[in-house]
Amino acid sequence: MNPMVKELRQALTSVDDEAGLEAVRVEFLGRKGKLAEAMKALAGLPLKDRKGEGAELNAAKQEMESLFDSKKNSFEHKKSSGLANTEWIDVTLPGVAPAEGHLHLTTQAIMEIEDIFARVGFTRVTAPDVDWDWYAFESLNIPKDHPARDNWETFFAAPSEASAKEGRLGKIVLTPHTSNSQVRELEKGKLPIRMINVGRCYRRQSDVSHIPMFHQFEGFMVDKGLSVTHLKGVLDYFAKAFFGPTRVTRLRPHHFRFTEPSFEVDISCGVCDGTGLVSGDKCRLCKSGWVELGGAGMTHPSVLEAGGVDSSVYSAFAFGWGVERTLMMRDGIHIKDIRVLYQNDLRFLNQF
Ligand code: PHE
Repeated sequence: MNPMVKELRQALTSVDDEAGLEAVRVEFLGRKGKLAEAMKALAGLPLKDRKGEGAELNAAKQEMESLFDSKKNSFEHKKSSGLANTEWIDVTLPGVAPAEGHLHLTTQAIMEIEDIFARVGFTRVTAPDVDWDWYAFESLNIPKDHPARDNWETFFAAPSEASAKEGRLGKIVLTPHTSNSQVRELEKGKLPIRMINVGRCYRRQSDVSHIPMFHQFEGFMVDKGLSVTHLKGVLDYFAKAFFGPTRVTRLRPHHFRFTEPSFEVDISCGVCDGTGLVSGDKCRLCKSGWVELGGAGMTHPSVLEAGGVDSSVYSAFAFGWGVERTLMMRDGIHIKDIRVLYQNDLRFLNQF
């Protein structure tokens, strides 16, 4: 046996930690260790001795490596067998409940609204909230510089040179209402239509009952022979489904450029039950028995024509309400300032 092997075995007996083991490895098996030196010395031997000596060194190398490995393994084994004493968990202990979030109040309302309309065959569609002037205004019978724009004047973005060339579509706007979905849907050319579009809207406004970014849901139904009765039926259905079976709606004459006739839709107040009085005093929420929900009307023939639909054959109705507004009208949710919805204050959001 090569004396190095013996020496290594001797050295290993006094090693009792990994640092010691590493020092021994360097001494014997390292790049400048004993074995490497002996290998180097081979080159100086006469050719006839070199072969025998080389074979012996190789055998010694293998033996040394295996001595080293078994010592190393013994350390590792000791380490992992000790693990059970130092690292353990009691799987029977009660767990720590993770903090549980929930969908935003507005998202919850959107999902519920979609669901209510889906039950009567209104399919959810989407339209861009950054759209052409054509879809947001022009095709809805609101020409440039018309005073009806004042209510909805929004944020304009400069179109790219290429898109500006399209001319007819005009500028790009952040849509001030979801009615831009109407002509977009007509253009798809599939009739009849029963759609609901829930989307973001933008207006220059901010106070206790207005926010610059809010949501609307737009209902649009196109078919042969539709009348105000159908519109009222759908609105009543929604009011009862969302607010409760005792609530009723009323239509008040109004004006929109894209509907004729046009209405504001009111719902009977949930606080005073439509009477306008709470124990003899004027109801503080509605003052009159009714609260306003949003706009509606029978679609103006020029809107149908703008979407390529023959208005002498088809008729349509539409309605567009604010999601946040509608949400706030619901019993039990008394939000004094609508802006709180988007301030991300967990003390508020956690309540829902
Ligand atoms: N787009 C109108 C608004 O934002 C609401 C509306 C929609 C009115 C559809 C009539 C028909 O106020």
